[in-house]
Amino acid sequence: MSDKLFIFDTTLRDGEQVPGCQLNTIEKIEVAKTLEALGVDVIEAGFPVSSPGDFQSVVEIAKAVSNPTICALTRAVEKDIDVAAEALKFAKRGRIHTGIGTSPYHIKSKLNSNPEEILERAVRAVKYAKRYVEDVEFYAEDAGRSDNAYLARVVEAVIAAGATVINIPDTTGYCLPAEYGAKIKYLMENVSNVHKAVLSTHCHNDLGMATANSLSGVINGARQVEVTINGIGERAGNTSLEEVVMAVKTHHDLPLHTDINTKEIYGASRLVSSLMNMPVQANKAIVGRNAFAHSSGIHQDGVLKNRENYEIIDPVEVGIQESAIVLTARSGRAALNHHLEQMGYNLSKEELDDAYSRFLVMADQRKNLSEKDLAELMGEKENLDKT
Ligand code: KIV
Ligand code: ZN
Repeated sequence: MSDKLFIFDTTLRDGEQVPGCQLNTIEKIEVAKTLEALGVDVIEAGFPVSSPGDFQSVVEIAKAVSNPTICALTRAVEKDIDVAAEALKFAKRGRIHTGIGTSPYHIKSKLNSNPEEILERAVRAVKYAKRYVEDVEFYAEDAGRSDNAYLARVVEAVIAAGATVINIPDTTGYCLPAEYGAKIKYLMENVSNVHKAVLSTHCHNDLGMATANSLSGVINGARQVEVTINGIGERAGNTSLEEVVMAVKTHHDLPLHTDINTKEIYGASRLVSSLMNMPVQANKAIVGRNAFAHSSGIHQDGVLKNRENYEIIDPVEVGIQESAIVLTARSGRAALNHHLEQMGYNLSKEELDDAYSRFLVMADQRKNLSEKDLAELMGEKENLDKT
């Protein structure tokens, strides 16, 4: 039996905090509908107290989508919670996400407080949010750098106060995978009422560990992951939805599944990239331009014999029609022949050898060769010029 891993998408909250990525309400609704089609369980729609525009977006998203839970972020402040509850009034299923910093940095230098007072404020905020909604998620900000024993006390207290989900953010992206996994394991083993709530990962990518940390958390007992499309988010970003979802889908050894319709992944990635004006790096896992492109001769030959020689995911599974066999000066005869066959050529071995020698000269000059270049190579230039 595999456990369900809940997908909490925060593209519209943590992702949208990135400078230059702000969306208007219409655009946010478009993203929210795409996330619904993708099958996410929770959409974190915004931080309603932060601005009238963000408040209105949460209201409109709650009206526009019905399957996912709609979540609104607050600080552990009553005014924030009142405003979030108001913004969620049209949500079929609303969740308030409240919390406070639990690391020594946050307790002392951000909140000018002490551990006991923070624990009280955390409990008070959860109880206050429970007056509005059944589903209350608590975040222990900077949990990545918080003392585990203190964190366990806070988690136990907020679960007793009614929190249904406990978010353990590695806010600064500091943890290494073994360390973050051990933190989740510690909470699973030392919080007596932990079975009454779901532990959630929320990892940032400052050391490039966000996906690895999230998976390590999941392997150690977390059952919700907080993610964004394309991994966008503060600084180096958040855990990317597509990476976690495809890791779980690809690794049959993990006794987990998600409800994500993976064929919608690529479309969602393109939409978020274009609306947020955030290009996706070419070598980004799963959704980058080169994620399913093969350019060296050895790989091309292998992949043409059997896709699985060099691909662990069928691109169709993530909504990409097919892998690309890119033609460069590193390509081999098999790749050239593959493209020429697709153009209708059926060359003998000698003809292919001859075309390949001319191809290498051309490829050295032109980097990536297109079908137009191949037509020229095969002497169709004049015909092409006429059309
Ligand atoms: O990174 C973080 O700690 C957050 C919280 C507000 C959940 O985004
Ligand atoms: Zn965050």
